Amino acid sequence: MENNTMNFDLDSQTRRKLGHRLVDVVDSFFASLPDRPVQPAAEDRYYPAHQDALPETGEDPARVFDEVCRELMEKGFHIPSANYLGMMNPTPTYMAFLAESLVAALNPQLATLARSQMASRIEAETVRWIGQLVGWRTPFSGTFTTGGNEANLSALAMALAAKFPGVIEDGVCSIGAQPVFYTSVEGHHSLDKSAGLLGLGRNSLRRIGVNERLELQTPQLEAAIQQDLLAGRKPFCVVATAGTTGSGAIDDLPAISDLCRRYRLWLHVDGAYGAAVLFSRRHRSLVRGIEEADSLSFDPHKWLAMPFSAGLILTPHIEALERTFSVPCPYLQKAPPGPLPDNLSIGAQWSRRMNSLKLWLTLRAHGRRAYEELIDRQMTLARMFADWVARSDDFELAAPQVLPILNLRLKAGGSSRLDLQALHAAIIEEVNRDGRQWISGAMVNGQSVIRTMVISYLTEDRHLRDLQAALDASSRAVRTSLRQENRPCIETAPPQQCGEISSSMSGGPGFGRGFPVLLQANNAK
Ligand SMILES: Cc1ncc(COP(=O)(O)O)c(C=O)c1O
Repeated sequence: MENNTMNFDLDSQTRRKLGHRLVDVVDSFFASLPDRPVQPAAEDRYYPAHQDALPETGEDPARVFDEVCRELMEKGFHIPSANYLGMMNPTPTYMAFLAESLVAALNPQLATLARSQMASRIEAETVRWIGQLVGWRTPFSGTFTTGGNEANLSALAMALAAKFPGVIEDGVCSIGAQPVFYTSVEGHHSLDKSAGLLGLGRNSLRRIGVNERLELQTPQLEAAIQQDLLAGRKPFCVVATAGTTGSGAIDDLPAISDLCRRYRLWLHVDGAYGAAVLFSRRHRSLVRGIEEADSLSFDPHKWLAMPFSAGLILTPHIEALERTFSVPCPYLQKAPPGPLPDNLSIGAQWSRRMNSLKLWLTLRAHGRRAYEELIDRQMTLARMFADWVARSDDFELAAPQVLPILNLRLKAGGSSRLDLQALHAAIIEEVNRDGRQWISGAMVNGQSVIRTMVISYLTEDRHLRDLQAALDASSRAVRTSLRQENRPCIETAPPQQCGEISSSMSGGPGFGRGFPVLLQANNAK
């Protein structure tokens, strides 16, 4: 291959050769995904330092490309694997890969309509398709974001501007009292971040307790609103979650919407993960009431199998969206007046990548029904997994299974909260040790859980059976290791000791070594 590396303008033959290499690499990667390990085995997880000096001149592009492909394949953490069973990151669709390559080549700039008539129309059509699934009866608007974090920030900015119009020009101090908003203890932490970024202060977010289904408790919410009103503070928004990050719980949207109407509060629904059930006629009733939202966050890069980034913010309050985000900008050419706004006047970004094409192309190639089938199948797999947990001697469900997230707890009666957390960490580490599959852990409503989920469209029953076997083997190994330690039960380890436990466990292979948290003998099987 000709080495013309000083010039970006590669000749056609070189471009085609490099492009074919990409297609071949991606093709064999996709072919490997049903059985590909998620990451190297624990003993092979060492990574080159990548501390070379900035290259002054280039090298053979094919060689560099091959090298980085090899490194990423061998040493990478492969979220697209069917064995990735721990968090809400998916296997991208192949159509999305094609779209992303095309977007990188065409580089459409979606800030203004005048320079992206065609691309903006495709984007607006994608937004319309999703908004129609929500079921809004009045006109709505929305835009693509980088993800749920930006969508939640945008929603709060809009809610603030809708309730206190002066804040756009004069800031939060013009409100004259502390604005406050609400979510459950299980609401996403991007809301705390947004509260800080918007100048409200993180303490302006009230976290309300949840019931046994991990749904926001509406009586507690109402009490908190009343208390804030009595204290002279200014409630302005409630964020309900449709599919919490920890357990997939869906808040009672009709009840919360009723409360928001009575207290004239903006209802934002964070459906970053769970709003995808709108694609399934069988399961969309799980998010009944979502159409009452004043704004909705929805992340196609979670359950809709899109590569990063693809988020959406949608709202039926078109005027509030434009008032929040539009600024006069004389240097940009205006499109003739028409039905579409400039994207920069309806979102937080300025220069904008076309994050919509991958979803548009996937929907055109596969249709809504492909997503319906995906969601229904994954719900069935999750129920089968929950049945297995119900029959298990070692594990129990730590939270109800609503969406395809399963929170497991080790049956270890008598062990303290901190012991259980350490035991879960040991089991997770053991399951993940050979790199083949990957699960995670979380604190859900203050309790440690082993967190598993079905997210890849490639995951089948057989992958879950492998996981079940790995969980069984790991819990047996942990219990055996505890028996070998033969030390009395530590009912309640002091917090700093628990920290040491977790870090020593992740330090090296063999969780039994020096494992200081013990169960009572009659709990060890
Ligand atoms: C419910 C919820 N909201 C918001 C976010 C943040 O989304 P993103 O990571 O796309 O910014 C997440 C991420 O997991 C989430 O689960």
